[in-house]
Amino acid sequence: MKLTLSVIKADIGSIGGHVAPSQRLLDTVKAYIGKRASSLLLDHYISHTGDDIAILMTHTHGENDEAIHQLAWDAFRAGTDAAREEGLYGAGQDLLKTSFSGNVKGMGPAVAEMEIEERTSEPFLFFDADKSDPGAYNLPLYLAFTDVMNTPGLILSPNISSGYRFVIMDVSHTEGDRIIALNAPDELYDIAALHRDPERFVVESVWSRATGEQAAAVATSRLHNIAGKYTGKDDPVMLVRVQMNFPATGEILAPYAIGHFVGGGMRGSHQVPLMPVTLNTGISYFDGPPIVSCAGFCVHNGKLTEPVDGFAHPFLNTVRDHVADKAIEMRRQGFIGTAMLPMSELEYTGISEKLELLDKRFRVREAKPALAKS
Ligand code: F6R
Ligand code: MG
Ligand code: MG
Repeated sequence: MKLTLSVIKADIGSIGGHVAPSQRLLDTVKAYIGKRASSLLLDHYISHTGDDIAILMTHTHGENDEAIHQLAWDAFRAGTDAAREEGLYGAGQDLLKTSFSGNVKGMGPAVAEMEIEERTSEPFLFFDADKSDPGAYNLPLYLAFTDVMNTPGLILSPNISSGYRFVIMDVSHTEGDRIIALNAPDELYDIAALHRDPERFVVESVWSRATGEQAAAVATSRLHNIAGKYTGKDDPVMLVRVQMNFPATGEILAPYAIGHFVGGGMRGSHQVPLMPVTLNTGISYFDGPPIVSCAGFCVHNGKLTEPVDGFAHPFLNTVRDHVADKAIEMRRQGFIGTAMLPMSELEYTGISEKLELLDKRFRVREAKPALAKS
């Protein structure tokens, strides 16, 4: 059957700072969706990662469906009312527009969707990251879908040895979706050249070259590009299909053992390693570290199984220790050089205002007259 997987997420308020939504806020969103689900959805799953609430939905209405997007938007509006009543911090933070206009893209919430032909068994992974931006998934996707060192299936399994097509978006282009499609492995170095700059070039989707099936969908919104000012980090969601014609679950998960540095953390303005965490984890050290969760499902006729936690395994404890060590080491460098993001990526305007004032005080020293040579 043709099935659409849609995940729409937003930060609509949290307790203790930008840490985690309250139970009442989560319950409000769950109740809102629960009441209206039967007429629109086949199934749904609601969770939080850090201060973001994600609504994962299965349905048959296709991508960018107005009714589906409106349902999520209205649930976040209802949640925002509850967040305001409780005095939560940043209530309604990611709802950047006052009225719904057909599609939540460009309105604040992050969206990842794919319409698929459901396989007899359809295992997929739902990733949710907080205190980071969509480029956070570039390296894990690059390694999982192109690199034999990470994904031995690329040489072992005839199902996946034809490689994958990457659709990459230039998120600095705000007038429309500026995208490029590149094939791995043929155009690997071109893909790599774009991946070098994950704040600008973001993998939007990955496709099987053998079958044409979609393997992955990533939310690519950049909040500060939408609002023109700091409104929080983008905190992207991603859906990845696994097994058979796609890399195995373990091949998709393996890159998260690196704890690669991503843009985010405190005030959305630092380079901090990404820590894989268990489902429904909050935020702590240095408004981070940036975290990513993974819920694995099988979906059958649109019905979801319960989630299995992709990062709860004891193996991940060592990874988390390693990531914490990397984070602490980078933090010793404070605000200097690579510890903080480049000027164009800073989520607050304080430094540019300061530099403008200081600029007026700079003077070019007058050159001393050269001594006459005799
Ligand atoms: C990062 C983030 C936090 C806030 C920080 C200050 O994406 O959300 O690090 O930037 O806690 O928040 P405000 O400016 O709301 O006091
Ligand atoms: Mg927040
Ligand atoms: Mg967040």
